[in-house]
Amino acid sequence: MSQHQVALAFEDGVTRFISCEDDQTVADASYRSRINIPLDCRDGACGTCKAFCESGNFWGGDYIDDALADDEAQRGYVLPCSMTPKSDLVLRIASTSAVAKTQPTTYTGTLAHVTRLSSTTYSVGIEIPNRDELAYLPGQYVNIAVPGTDESRSYSFSNAPDEHTLTFLVKLSPGGVMSTYLTERARVGDEISFTGPHGSFFLRETERPALLVAGGTGLAPIMSILRKLRADNTTRPVHVLYGVSTDEDLVELDTVDGLTSEIGAVGWEHCVADPQSSAANKGFVTSLLRAEQVYDGDVDVYLCGPPPMVEAVREHFSTEGIEPVGFYYEKFALSGTAADSGAPSAQADASAPAEPQPEVAAVPAPPEPEPAVPEDPAPVEPAVPDTPATLTTDETDAVPTEEVPTPVPQARSIAGQVVSPRADVQPLHAANGAPSTEREAATARAIAGQPITRASGDGPTADVGTGEGLLPAPGARSVAGQQILPDAEIEPLVRRPAQSPTPVPASTPAQPSTPTVAVGAAGQHNGGGYVIGEEHPSVHHSDAIFEAREALELGALELTIGRLSSQDLAGYRLLAESTVPYVEGDRFTDAAAYTETNAAFHDYLFTLTGNDHLLQAYQNLGVKGRMQEVLRHATWCDPSVAQDHLDIVEAFESGDRERARTLVVEHAERSKRTMRRAMDDTRAQVLPDRYYPGRFEGKVVVVTGAAQGIGQAVARRVAAEGGTVALVDRAEMIEDEASLLCAAGTRAAPVLADLETWSGATKTVENTLERFGRIDVLINNVGGAIAFKPFEEFGDDEIQAEITRSLMPTLWCSRAVLPAMIEAGGGTIVNVSSNATRGIHRVPYSAAKGGVNAITSALAMEAAPHGIRVAGTAPGGTEAPERRIPRGPARDEREEGWFQQTYDQVVDSTFQKRYGTLDEQAAAITFVASDEASYITGSVLPVAGGDLG
Ligand code: FES
Repeated sequence: MSQHQVALAFEDGVTRFISCEDDQTVADASYRSRINIPLDCRDGACGTCKAFCESGNFWGGDYIDDALADDEAQRGYVLPCSMTPKSDLVLRIASTSAVAKTQPTTYTGTLAHVTRLSSTTYSVGIEIPNRDELAYLPGQYVNIAVPGTDESRSYSFSNAPDEHTLTFLVKLSPGGVMSTYLTERARVGDEISFTGPHGSFFLRETERPALLVAGGTGLAPIMSILRKLRADNTTRPVHVLYGVSTDEDLVELDTVDGLTSEIGAVGWEHCVADPQSSAANKGFVTSLLRAEQVYDGDVDVYLCGPPPMVEAVREHFSTEGIEPVGFYYEKFALSGTAADSGAPSAQADASAPAEPQPEVAAVPAPPEPEPAVPEDPAPVEPAVPDTPATLTTDETDAVPTEEVPTPVPQARSIAGQVVSPRADVQPLHAANGAPSTEREAATARAIAGQPITRASGDGPTADVGTGEGLLPAPGARSVAGQQILPDAEIEPLVRRPAQSPTPVPASTPAQPSTPTVAVGAAGQHNGGGYVIGEEHPSVHHSDAIFEAREALELGALELTIGRLSSQDLAGYRLLAESTVPYVEGDRFTDAAAYTETNAAFHDYLFTLTGNDHLLQAYQNLGVKGRMQEVLRHATWCDPSVAQDHLDIVEAFESGDRERARTLVVEHAERSKRTMRRAMDDTRAQVLPDRYYPGRFEGKVVVVTGAAQGIGQAVARRVAAEGGTVALVDRAEMIEDEASLLCAAGTRAAPVLADLETWSGATKTVENTLERFGRIDVLINNVGGAIAFKPFEEFGDDEIQAEITRSLMPTLWCSRAVLPAMIEAGGGTIVNVSSNATRGIHRVPYSAAKGGVNAITSALAMEAAPHGIRVAGTAPGGTEAPERRIPRGPARDEREEGWFQQTYDQVVDSTFQKRYGTLDEQAAAITFVASDEASYITGSVLPVAGGDLG
């Protein structure tokens, strides 16, 4: 099978390139690449996909004359749904590139009301004539074009998705375009348009308790969520917290009172940061957090507010040891806010967001509308005062800057990633120029703001040794593919309560309790605009990922079912069918190909929403990467996984919402079952006979020489005991070993490095820190005797080689790891020495291991003040499978004799008259490495059946 490049040249001059196998139709390859060319029957019967082939050879496939007449075929017309390539092709597609990509919809309506809720906040209502066509999820937002300007601003709905009038909360900002419009020009009946819905911050469907936390006008999406819960007659336990800066920012209290009482909310409280406030609760929103609201972590937390508030709540949970099952947030970068302008600190407090809904330049501005002034405009009817007021100086002083321009005009940071406006995606095929593969490549990486990664690059299998797929900042962590900035990168705007812990410095490693999943290249923080994200505990484990996918898919389903065109459905079916060939009964015929086609199928539903953020949120979960890790060793699958895809499409085709929902839920269960079985099967291969579950939970452990032998046994035991493992070796098979551990559910990564060099040691430390953020334990295992013979037989180069092999890696690695451990305030170094320090025929090796013993005792004394333990074990003779990569050249007869003498001496020196096992060595090493050995440092434990070495 060979692969060909197919250039799809659209009518608007844009050219996209796809790879197409020679047994794959161009339409199939196109849809898998998320390029939705015109399609209907998919079967050579309708002619909808007809294109013109400018160059290349191909099979035309089967089709009927009605779809493509002979003379058309002779003139070069083709049917991409039927044709397969025999060479690279250039096809002219009869549509624009915009048509081939689903876009958010623009709606135009009228201003229904502008109500001044307080001196700082307005409620705005919009009505659109085609209200039935607009579907959105509670919590989502739209970009509203500000009448009379060419700018748009983002606001979350505050009404429920089933309510007719669309309502929004707007925080006033001096000089802001929306604020100026509302206070000076707005009239009921003004024409107003918006684009959307956008965002992946929305209420997930579960029965789990919910904690809803709003800062300032971040109350809007929370109100929408409350209204949806009311419409659903929810029985979920719900708590609502609302924090603002000043009394003037407190709005909609009666409304929230009513909503919370109607849904039987367990609790509802608000607070005001201003000490002069008349509110019952003065302080920050974190002061309202109580243990009973979080149900020991079995809770979904929805948080909408500025970064300090989000970070303060996250830090509160971290301090309390709470990991909510779902942590969904929408936050704003605060460039140009109160902190910068010297406004009172309370303005930028965690509970008093500077601007939960800033007027952020967002998607490409729509055509500048003319100020629509009705001939006899009805005046706006503000609640207070009678006429729209221009902000006074006092008001502007009291309100943090609202308008927060993004550094890149019209760019947003969503799900932790900058999404460029469509206009930023340059045509790949300049007006009359040649197709540019470079530009294609550059643009491909930016499709939907989502980096396109190597096949294995969006999961933790990324090769640490190459530095690819690594988090860029040591203090950053990535959860569900979303870069979470280290606390220090968030301006310390929060006036923290006295008992709050000190902010974590940027260099402090990420919390070990939060699994880090580097999903491709982690997103970048925009410095301005929204950041939407979600976090889940144990994200590395497949269940959490698939549950999160299910919740997102149910949301996407609500946005799309009954609204898809026949072309959309044709593409959906095409992708569903493409998964079928890779499953036969309950076996994968090709798990990798299934993973690939399955990912394209699931991507497509999110693409159909026209909401890039939802697609990113899904992709950031890392489902595909996790499946690649786990299923690469799998053969079994639930027999219905591929059939589900076809059934889901059928339910969409018939508009059967309930059936589609049921299938999505069932499919998630079947996917989880398939993944669990694959993990169990793999785990059975790598689990040691005995281990202590949880002993290394939360620890990042570096094991050198981990590809085979004692190092491999140690790495597997650490993995079985919950540790995160960096497996280091210079043999490439370390990648397979790491992959195996990942597939068994461990956070593990390979580091390809030659530890006989200083650069190999520094690379090991740097890559591990970048990948996992910290190193708790270093196990210096690499080493081993190369030659066995009387000392007088050793040449100088052989002596040097033994020292380089068995002393230097411990010296280099210990030195390389120390700065990180000192900075972290502690750590453990375990040196695997040898009882060969007293034995025959290995004098250079014995000397090297004697040196390791010396490093252990000397470094232990020196590093103890830093909280670092240094200890070791001295293995005796150990039975091991034949090494796949031998340490030295094959032995001749004389050398075999010396080796046998060494073996006999070692066995004879033991009390037990035998060699040890790999498990016995790994047990001792992991004990010394664990916290159980917390009072052992500077010493080396002999593990040699009574031989003290
Ligand atoms: S002929 Fe290709 S889609 Fe119908």
